[in-house]
Amino acid sequence: MARLAVYPGSFDPLTNGHVDIISRGARLFDRIIVAMLVNAEKQPLFTMAERVAIAREVFRDQPNVEVDTFDGLLVDYVARRRAQVIVRGLRAVSDFEFEFQMALMNQRLNATIETVFMMPAEQYTYISSRLIKEVFSLGGRVHGLVPDMVEARLREKVTPQPIGAGKKSK
Ligand code: PNS
Repeated sequence: MARLAVYPGSFDPLTNGHVDIISRGARLFDRIIVAMLVNAEKQPLFTMAERVAIAREVFRDQPNVEVDTFDGLLVDYVARRRAQVIVRGLRAVSDFEFEFQMALMNQRLNATIETVFMMPAEQYTYISSRLIKEVFSLGGRVHGLVPDMVEARLREKVTPQPIGAGKKSK
């Protein structure tokens, strides 16, 4: 039986932390499905089509990485895809509480599906999509923390505020 894993999330945008976890998952499982939640945030920076296109481009040379979207309950999607595993990344202890709650709720909803936690490489442990957007919009460097394609798209979408903008001069 093929071992199929689902790696769910918002991916707004995809970071190198996500890429690291997906690559690790692709080595462990026959196939890993990157499943993007539709309507996760009311106002995402990247449209769903953009997020899907970015992930497909980043993994275009990895045939066992699939990119898909889902809505509704994650466990229902996982069952529909006949996958056995949900992959989640754990960066720090602070992630644990929410992830623990989700894993146990998902276990209660469908006891046949296992959640597997994976750690990204150390240099990605502090990255999150939210922080990337914030830092970039305030003029900070995100090079090396997101795929080049994401950095380019951020440049198209977000006009970084110059340092000092918003300060009133006396
Ligand atoms: O990128 P995120 O925000 O950490 O991903 C969270 C996600 C998409 C995994 C979670 O919100 C989710 O699974 N949503 C689908 C709805 C659902 O099944 N909720 C119950 C989870 S216990």
